[in-house]
Amino acid sequence: MTAELLNGREIAKAYRAGLAEEVEKLKAQGITPNLTVVIVGNDGASLSYVRSKNKAAEKIGMSSGIIHLDADVAETELLDTIERLNNDDTVNGILVQVPLPEQISEEKVLEAIAPHKDVDGFHPTNIGRLYTGQRTFVPCTPLGIMELLKHTGPLEGKDVAVIGRSHIVGQPVAKLLTDAHATVTLMHSRTQGMIDKLKHFDVVISAVGAPGLVTGMHLKEGAIVVDVGNSVVDEKLVGDVDFESAKAVASYITPVPGGVGPMTITMVLNNTLLAAKWHNGLE
Ligand code: GUN
Repeated sequence: MTAELLNGREIAKAYRAGLAEEVEKLKAQGITPNLTVVIVGNDGASLSYVRSKNKAAEKIGMSSGIIHLDADVAETELLDTIERLNNDDTVNGILVQVPLPEQISEEKVLEAIAPHKDVDGFHPTNIGRLYTGQRTFVPCTPLGIMELLKHTGPLEGKDVAVIGRSHIVGQPVAKLLTDAHATVTLMHSRTQGMIDKLKHFDVVISAVGAPGLVTGMHLKEGAIVVDVGNSVVDEKLVGDVDFESAKAVASYITPVPGGVGPMTITMVLNNTLLAAKWHNGLE
């Protein structure tokens, strides 16, 4: 079997076209959704993510801003910035790029963002709302993965392995998959014989950041493979999955780059649109 490519760039493009139409409708009512991204320091990869988020927002008609603070900024100054954005009615979505420098508590910062502007879905209130089935901002990478999987058929009854138990990807995607009636096994660094167990799974989602972790040899024939890894090796972005060998066994596979990445950015835009709608009492 040669896998069909789950092309995140194409799927994201189609999804963004739908978002652009909705933005246009809101603008006709005098509402321009705004995404404001805060970045601390000069990490190249983070800066490039932040710029792509802003460019993508503007491309679909949203307004967007970047607040760039020095790497040595005091925690209080960052908290003041967030407070100002919380109180600014023209700002619908606030996203503080993580990781943050060590003088700043990530926990404090993420908790300072008003939950109704937390388009990342990282605030404890929003995480609680997700787990209790209330309306909320669903974290963007998990939401993007679910959107990709819509192109592979129903998840009901499928056995899914999620590798990696982070708060940003592994845990929330396991929750969303369970809601979609899949049976989920959440695997991690202490899972015994992890790699050999993968053969039993219809879907494998790897979100570890370990290049070459999963190869075709480990997969069930016809498995669906979603690679969330994004490591830099020899200045190239690579995932957790050995693409060539996995492609020969899988039925669907995401490339890196061009798989999950574009979907994450698209879901930031999706959540910003929702924030603008909810703020104005729509939906
Ligand atoms: N850094 C890496 N991924 C993300 C993300 O989804 N949101 C934020 N805020 N920072 C990130």
